[in-house]
Amino acid sequence: MRGEAGGPGRGEAGQGRPAHPRRETVLVTGAAGFIGSHTAVELMAAGHHVVGVDNFANSSPGAVDRIRALAAGGGSFEFVELDLRDRAALAAALRHCPVDAVIHFAAKKAVGESVEIPLDYYDTNVNATLGLVETMLGHGVNRLVFSSSCSIYGDAASVPIREDAPARPTNPYARTKWMCEQILADVCHRYPDWHVTSLRYFNPAGAHPSGLLGEDPRGVPNNVLPYIAQVAVGRRAELSVFGDDYPTPDGTGIRDYIHVVDIAEGHRLALDALGEAPGHRVINLGTGRGTSVRELLDAFAAACGRELPARVVARRPGDVAELVADPSLARELLGWKATHDVAEMCRDAWNFQRRNPNGYADGPAGATTSTNDNDNQRDDRGDGDDR
Ligand SMILES: NC(=O)c1ccc[n+]([C@@H]2O[C@H](COP(=O)([O-])OP(=O)(O)OC[C@H]3O[C@@H](n4cnc5c(N)ncnc54)[C@H](O)[C@@H]3O)[C@@H](O)[C@H]2O)c1
Repeated sequence: MRGEAGGPGRGEAGQGRPAHPRRETVLVTGAAGFIGSHTAVELMAAGHHVVGVDNFANSSPGAVDRIRALAAGGGSFEFVELDLRDRAALAAALRHCPVDAVIHFAAKKAVGESVEIPLDYYDTNVNATLGLVETMLGHGVNRLVFSSSCSIYGDAASVPIREDAPARPTNPYARTKWMCEQILADVCHRYPDWHVTSLRYFNPAGAHPSGLLGEDPRGVPNNVLPYIAQVAVGRRAELSVFGDDYPTPDGTGIRDYIHVVDIAEGHRLALDALGEAPGHRVINLGTGRGTSVRELLDAFAAACGRELPARVVARRPGDVAELVADPSLARELLGWKATHDVAEMCRDAWNFQRRNPNGYADGPAGATTSTNDNDNQRDDRGDGDDR
């Protein structure tokens, strides 16, 4: 069965930002990260109080300042720097600020790195999730939205991919996400008053239209779009396209890129819908449209107004030809549908990158200096990415 736990669908209702039934206090783990920061802004715009936590393992305090700068709609934000694996610190944060629900983003997400240091991945992704759930149990919090991933599907037999496609994780990162989903299903089985939704994202990309928030990973980007953006701004020499001999129209891998603002909205709607169905349910967040690496590069070139250097290199082991979501369950259960296309993702990602060539290190409003640290591109593919 798709979605694992049933419950009434919400039909076509709900897209957009309706008046919120009640202001909630929401713990957002990984709040300084790419998706967490955009979701914090989305939740504030809906009037919620957000308690963000992060240890800046893959982000920086600058993101917290930008989130605060974008507060609107009556919402508010407070931030606690902590490592989610530190259960005492998390419990203290929840004692200090009781929350109604949790959105759990904090994780490590580089597929290639997960093969190199699997124990770190199990520790950060699985062990921290166990600690979070235990702490929630101890504080009477039983509503959770969990960041899962399309990488759970591995090399899917057919596209578009529905939630009832078999899980075939092919690397430690994907296995950590699959394990967390199973843990959450078991918790819901044991505690029937728990409400959990695991959102399996396809390829989040883009940036906030303000140009204040975007993807600013530490070191070499693991995802293809921020990598292209750093090529465009002169921080990296060229994009390596990993294989052009896939069985796709132009030979490069096809992925379902989804605007981060759409993803953030999906979290707000998933949070609102948690009360509708007890138990654990699984929902894809994707657009249902595939874009090849070449098409993405062309779209970014159009956005920034110049051709971008790229070189085809060998395929990477474990990469698959095509991953595209069937997003119909999200529409049925959450009333959610992606509304931004790849051109808008490239426009917004470029707007962020050109205003902040060095990311959040450029300060509150973004400066115009540029660096040229053309690191060699690592073989750390981002979650679900192919290039
Ligand atoms: N971006 C993608 O392509 C993608 C696709 C599918 C799923 N996801 C999942 O979505 C979530 C968010 O991804 P993102 O792209 O925003 O990544 P990100 O790296 O930008 O954000 C993750 C945040 O978690 C923080 N963090 C890591 N370990 C922590 C710890 N021990 N304690 C506290 N904070 C910690 C990092 O500092 C970072 O700010 C992750 O769970 C990821 O696996 C991402």
